[in-house]
Amino acid sequence: MKTVTCTAPVNIAVIKYWGKRDENLILPVNSSLSATLGQNELRAKTTVAVDPSFTEDKMWLNDKEQSVNTQRIQNVFREIRRRARKRKGDGDKSKIFSQKIHICSENNFPTAAGLASSAAGYACLVYSLAKLFDVDGEISDIARQGSGSACRSIYGGFVEWQMGTKADGSDSFAKQITPAQHWPEMCILILVVSDQKKHTGSTEGMQTSVQNSRLLEKRIEVVPERMTNITKAIKEKDFHTFAEITMKDSNQFHAICLDTYPPISYMTDVSRQIVRFVHSFNNHSGETKVAYTFDAGPNACLYLLEKDLGRVISLVNHFFPAQDNGLNLKVQGLPVSIDKPSQKDIDALSLPVLPNSIKYLINTKVGEGPQILSDPSESLLTDNGHPKTLSS
Ligand code: DP6
Repeated sequence: MKTVTCTAPVNIAVIKYWGKRDENLILPVNSSLSATLGQNELRAKTTVAVDPSFTEDKMWLNDKEQSVNTQRIQNVFREIRRRARKRKGDGDKSKIFSQKIHICSENNFPTAAGLASSAAGYACLVYSLAKLFDVDGEISDIARQGSGSACRSIYGGFVEWQMGTKADGSDSFAKQITPAQHWPEMCILILVVSDQKKHTGSTEGMQTSVQNSRLLEKRIEVVPERMTNITKAIKEKDFHTFAEITMKDSNQFHAICLDTYPPISYMTDVSRQIVRFVHSFNNHSGETKVAYTFDAGPNACLYLLEKDLGRVISLVNHFFPAQDNGLNLKVQGLPVSIDKPSQKDIDALSLPVLPNSIKYLINTKVGEGPQILSDPSESLLTDNGHPKTLSS
């Protein structure tokens, strides 16, 4: 049995992907841009294996067997096997590309909570299969066919997904803009408002938006300029411009959701209160120190610089406390102490206190792309190709 185990990161878009021009190949109507997050906090882990004795392709996700007979998984398998065959040639004795595949995958965070679990999952699957079959070169276009945003999780740092124009999708892939170490002061704070499954999935939501949102037609004209300006801001570490474009793009995406008929609303009252919090904080500070962005769910993702992290966390903890009794919010990920905020900051923000509205915080940074785990003990499959967790 030949196996490979890898991990892959989550990414959070600052210029959102919303809408496809080709549903089967997953080709977008606009380019998008994201930061890849640190994998200690959020990652998918996948083991893939091939063996001549396997009789069918099989997959387990978070301990449950899943069907591989979906169009997206079949497209990924077909493309990776095609490239493996092309690379090895039909003369390859092992005919590894015609053996059946077993896959076992798990996330270290709630699946489908609007935390881009499908992006990390498909990026991890494609990266692992590429290593298993010795496929090299560009593979983000294969990840794209699993889930659009997954192509951006193939790289670390800030990553752009170029929409491309060709009908076969060969020019629609991800590209790293700056490596993970480029802007070390950049911090990312995820405010988990809900870890429940979202009511309208992104795939379905964006389909309806493309069908009937007139605002989406307008957005497509705006994105190229935003892509140019935010790329420049990231390269030059211009936080103010980066933050302003990020917030405007999130707002525009959610405006399109409301302009979709019937309307889609991912943000909740708590999400909107976080938006107010950020603008009040920036106003009071006299400069843009924090940016928010929301994906297809109520959770907020804040981008901010290290020097402001302690102050922002203590204010989040004050205005969105865990409980009435003043218990501190739970923080997962990179350690940070929660201090008492200054009375001056509290008075200046003049916001209501909303206990119990944020479940926990995830404190992370911009991180690296997928990694191979070469220690065999990391494998999620036993020697006969079944999930370790189900084989005791
Ligand atoms: C709001 O990549 O999940 O997170 O391609 O249909 O699988 P499919 O959609 P998906 O959509 C992500 C939408 C988003 C914005 C973004 O990540 O750019």
